Amino acid sequence: MGGSSLIQNILKLVKLDAKTISFAKKEDSLNQTIKEVLNSFEEFAKTKNINLKLNDCENIVLFQDRFWLKEAFGNIIKNCIEHTDECGSVEVFVKKTPVLYKVIIKDTGVGIEQSDIPNIFNRFYKSGVSNKKDSVGIGLSISKSIIESHNGYIDVVSEKGVGTNFIITFMK
Ligand SMILES: Nc1ncnc2c1ncn2[C@@H]1O[C@H](COP(=O)(O)OP(=O)(O)OP(=O)(O)O)[C@@H](O)[C@H]1O
Ligand SMILES: [Mg+2]
Repeated sequence: MGGSSLIQNILKLVKLDAKTISFAKKEDSLNQTIKEVLNSFEEFAKTKNINLKLNDCENIVLFQDRFWLKEAFGNIIKNCIEHTDECGSVEVFVKKTPVLYKVIIKDTGVGIEQSDIPNIFNRFYKSGVSNKKDSVGIGLSISKSIIESHNGYIDVVSEKGVGTNFIITFMK
């Protein structure tokens, strides 16, 4: 991560914390938001030969600020690609039930230690075994804050050596 984007990310977190961001929400396609994020990570996934794909469902309309929701999903997908070995996969599933919408981001990566799981959404937390020297540990805290500002919540299920699932749920 370059110096200026590090500062930009810290500023984003500070502003989200201080609640000084006014989200410009409108009814917009959730599927389209995710497609735009996946397009922006296509090149990165290719460099690691990772199969990055969307398992779409019928269109979901969500009251959202697309710019910020892309930031939220982008941080998660970036992590998934970073923690997945060559030739693995990062898949996104979008589901709809009568009461909620779910976005599941599933990687076949290194997984997260059970003891680390309660901490990964905390700011500046990086797992002890993180292979990235230049990471700061704020990506997931930014994502969580944005998702909660959209009446959503984020959960994670992971198994060491098997992979990680991030489950994002929005109330209808
Ligand atoms: N998909 C994943 N697989 C394995 N570990 C993960 C995954 N996503 C996150 N983690 C762990 O959670 C930690 C926190 O992630 P977060 O995105 O907040 O910070 P970061 O990626 O280390 O730094 P930053 O995103 O600020 O550059 C990571 O350091 C990593 O240890
Ligand atoms: Mg990150």
